[in-house]
Parts: sequence; structure tokens; C-alpha cells
Amino acid sequence: MYLHGSSKINQNGHLEIGGVDTLELANKYGTPLYVYDVELIRNRARGFKSAFDKANVKAQVAYASKAFSSVAIIQVAHEEGLSLDVVSGGELYTALAAGFPASRIHFHGNNKSQEELRMALEHNIGCIVVDNFYEIELLNSICRELEAKAKILLRVTPGVEAHTHDYITTGQEDSKFGFDLHNGQVEKAIDQVLELNSFELLGFHCHIGSQIFETTGFVLAADKIFEKLKEWKSQFSFVPEVINLGGGFGIRYTEEDEPLEPHVYVEKIIETVKNKITDLNMNMPEIWIEPGRSLVGDAGTTLYTVGSQKEIPDIRKYLAIDGGMSDNIRPSLYQAKYEAALANKMNVKHENKVSIAGKCCESGDMLIWDVPLPEAQPGDLLAVFCTGAYGYSMSNNYNRIPRPAVVFVENGEAGLVIKRETLEDIVRLDLPYKSKVMNS
Ligand SMILES: Cc1ncc(COP(=O)(O)O)c(C=O)c1O
Repeated sequence: MYLHGSSKINQNGHLEIGGVDTLELANKYGTPLYVYDVELIRNRARGFKSAFDKANVKAQVAYASKAFSSVAIIQVAHEEGLSLDVVSGGELYTALAAGFPASRIHFHGNNKSQEELRMALEHNIGCIVVDNFYEIELLNSICRELEAKAKILLRVTPGVEAHTHDYITTGQEDSKFGFDLHNGQVEKAIDQVLELNSFELLGFHCHIGSQIFETTGFVLAADKIFEKLKEWKSQFSFVPEVINLGGGFGIRYTEEDEPLEPHVYVEKIIETVKNKITDLNMNMPEIWIEPGRSLVGDAGTTLYTVGSQKEIPDIRKYLAIDGGMSDNIRPSLYQAKYEAALANKMNVKHENKVSIAGKCCESGDMLIWDVPLPEAQPGDLLAVFCTGAYGYSMSNNYNRIPRPAVVFVENGEAGLVIKRETLEDIVRLDLPYKSKVMNS
């Protein structure tokens, strides 16, 4: 069994995370419960940051808060000297509520609203990543109204699509995001923003995919952007201060995944950029990256209580837990795979394979198929590993199930950072319908 970060089996044969027995956590805070290993998050952040520092390269490592946004995680990101990537007014509001410095916030999104752009400008955030021509127009008009100047990156789609071990390079990319690098769109966008007083163009951004286990995709994307920089230098006399190569660094969900250490990605990115600027006789730009999953993914474990079981002879055994697609939609949404253990029976032999069923009224609500576990009883505590990214942030109230609580553990101490939703919360926004027809 693979244990992440500070997780270990304690003398009672229980799963312990951050020096805290998970059974104690479940007793105190209830289940389902998301538990975050803060030390692991800090170590990852330091892994990315120190690789840039060692190479003496100016950089920003921005936590992609879509992976898990809350006041507490944003405070940890701040403590670790990270920058922050947000993609909505809600994520921006959370960052500001956490006291995160606006100057290190980067705002993404393919359809930012007027209100969101105004909010970003009013708080003078570090950078807006402009995605399309409509946004250039909209942002320009809001800048004029507010007499503000926006620092921007242009998001480009370089025609490199990377996912796990595969990467595809195409002349054009079929993506809803960004300006295409190969059909003249980026040139048109550069031309427009350089003409307008509303903008300070810092440079370019790309994001090539998720769960990437090799450096090749990043090298290819940088290659493609730098090929163009050469043309843009003579065409627009423009040399970028910033190149942002996005996120997507992979983590180990199951034994099939073999992630690289953060410094390996960073060193390769730096090497590639350094070679390119020498060829182009350019100053070294700042390099920005945006890890989400790799900062918080394997730091998260969800604890569930085992309930009913159903055995279909010669077919399979289903083990149902007190959560499911409402707290982790990734298996139903894109067949994401996870590993699990019985947190109260860590030293007990793994007898058979069982399939973990959620409690939602949906056949597709299956968390894990065929996972080896010891014989389980109702009341046992199931730990599903690596649920820290896109778990809570994609959670929902399907079947009107309240969202679980979130606890941070570090150095033997636990702190509640998001309260469990209550049944009252479930109807908090509901209003009765006063039908004129029925009352007449
Ligand atoms: C623009 C951008 N940056 C960063 C990320 C973070 O990716 P990951 O969590 O895989 O590191 C994403 C994820 O969708 C993204 O779209």
C-alpha cells in the first residue's frame, strides 16, 4: 500500500496523517471528511520554488486555486510565497478574503464577466490572462471607464496537447481557450493590445493539459512559443517579460502513475528557455508556472464510513460508503482512478477485491472498481487517497447531500478549515412559491 506524505500506520494499526489518528478525526468531525496533509503541500511548494531559486531564475509559482479554493489553503499558499491563479469572481473573492496580496493574483477564464473584470481592476490584481478578442474589447472599455491600466498576458494555444504520457502536436488546436498560435490570431491580438493605452502586455501564457508525467510537452510548447517570439521581435519590436507555461504536473493516484519530482519539470523548463533566449539574443523572461493538482492532490484523503454491502455471487461485491459523486465526481466524470484502505484495519490482510459504491441515486456513482481491501464491516473507516484536487472544489449537493467538512493536519494537530454543511444549509437559498393561480 502506498502512503503519501506524512501518512503512516500507527501503533494501533490505524492510518495516521500529519501525526493525527484518522479515527480520532472521524469521531470528532464526522464523515465524509476531507483531510489535508499540510506538510506535503508545503514540501511540494518548496520543491517548485527552490528549483527556480537554485537556478537564480526570476519566477512565480502560482497555485491554481481551482484545484481547491478556500481561505485556509490560500493562506498556506501565501505563507509559502506562492502566487495565485483564480478563474472566477468567487475564487478571486476567496483569495481577497484570505488576505492574499492582490499583486500576486492572476485571473484566468475564457468568459470573464464585466463584473469580474471590474473587480480584478478595482483590486489592482497582478495580471489578467486575456483569452479572446471579446475580452480585449470588454477589458479595454472597463479600463477606460476606471482610468486603469491592466497588466495582461495573452493566452495562446500552441498546438501541443499533453496528457499523461501522450502528447499530440497539431498545427491548430481545437480548444475553447486562447488565441491560436498558428493562424494569425495571436499576431492580431498583439497588434490590438499594443495599440491600446489600456494594456501593459507582460507576455504570453499557455497550458497544455493535466496529469503530465514527462517534460517533453512543456519543451515542445516552449519551442513553439519561442519560434514565434523571434518573428514578433521584428514585427512588433516586442519582447516579453513573462512566459507562463501553465500547470498540469502529474501526481500518483495509483501505481500506474509515475510522477516526476517538481524540480525535474522546472529544471527542464529553465534549460529550454535558456537555450532559446541564447538563440534569439533575448533577455531571460520571468518564468511563471501554475501547479494545482501537484500542490494539493495527494495531500488530500477522504474518510468515509462503510455502510451497506451487496454481494452478487461470481460477479462482484459492492461496498457502500456515506459519500460518493457529491464529494468526488471525478470517477463518474472522467473515470478517474483511486486507491483506498480501511483506516482502522491498516495491518489486516487484504482478502478480496471490492467495488466502492457511493450513496447517490445514480448507477454511475462508483468511486473505485475492484480495490483490494480487508473484510469490511459496517462502521469501518474507508480512506480514499489523493482526493485533494478537484474533489471539494467540484463537490455538489446532488440528492441534497450536504458538503463534507475539511480538516487540515500538521505536526500532530488538526484544525477545521471548512465546516460541514447542515440540512438547514441545504434549504438556505430556497424560497416558497406563492402561486397566484392556487391562491386565487
Ligand atoms: C490555465 C490553467 N492553469 C493551471 C491549471 C492547473 O492544472 P493542474 O491542476 O493539472 O496542475 C489548469 C487546470 O485546468 C488550467 O486550466
